[in-house]
Amino acid sequence: MSTPNNTNRRTFISKTVKGGLALGIGFSSAAPLLSCAAVKHTNRSAIKTGFDQQPLPYAYSALENVIDTMTMEIHYSKHAAAYSKNLKDAAIAEKVEMTNPLEDVLVNISKYSAKMRNNGGGHYNHEMFWQCMRPKTENNAPTGNLLSAITKQFGTFDNFKKQFSDFGKNRFGSGWAWLYINKENQLMLGSTINQDNPLMDVAEIKGFPLLGLDVWEHAYYLKYQNRRADYIENWWNLVNWDYVAERLHSYHI
Ligand SMILES: [Fe+2]
Repeated sequence: MSTPNNTNRRTFISKTVKGGLALGIGFSSAAPLLSCAAVKHTNRSAIKTGFDQQPLPYAYSALENVIDTMTMEIHYSKHAAAYSKNLKDAAIAEKVEMTNPLEDVLVNISKYSAKMRNNGGGHYNHEMFWQCMRPKTENNAPTGNLLSAITKQFGTFDNFKKQFSDFGKNRFGSGWAWLYINKENQLMLGSTINQDNPLMDVAEIKGFPLLGLDVWEHAYYLKYQNRRADYIENWWNLVNWDYVAERLHSYHI
């Protein structure tokens, strides 16, 4: 089973990003971001996800004041761990080769069971979600090419945040808000229900996820109760923009 640890994965990402830069692969605008050489869309990302849960890249308490320690512990060790376990059970039952990337399953998820859809999405989304956060940073914002791409597409960073936040606030019930890049190389915003994501062939929005926000109540209820909007507003202080930039770069490798 292919289970690269975080260090290896991040090293690989770092190398691929540097490789892309060395080749002069970059971007300065959002639409189109790149006139990249034709590569099969679903295979363009250098970031691949395995079936095992990877270590949390920080302590449960590292996000305190925005997301409390108990929420993080329950979220990671109970909810997300269960998605990984149930995904692997489904993979065995449905004869999915777990040495292949999970992304290969997600892009064809309509061919699999509801158990695979719910838990495959749940595992993928959470593995990404942990990486999309870091300890609170004041005046937290993207820089460089990522900031340029966002402002090109959405006018201002504040406007981008408002539109993204609205997708999270307005998602009825449980789901996710997303920044993703579509096959036309445009940055897009949207939301998905339950544990769906833009990789899935069944999703209403389609593309490669760059930033995801979990708006299930299990992500915030202990601290925020019904105040999802407050959770979202505070969450912006946690976004790991370096990781989001890595994902955008990796998409173009
Ligand atoms: Fe969650």
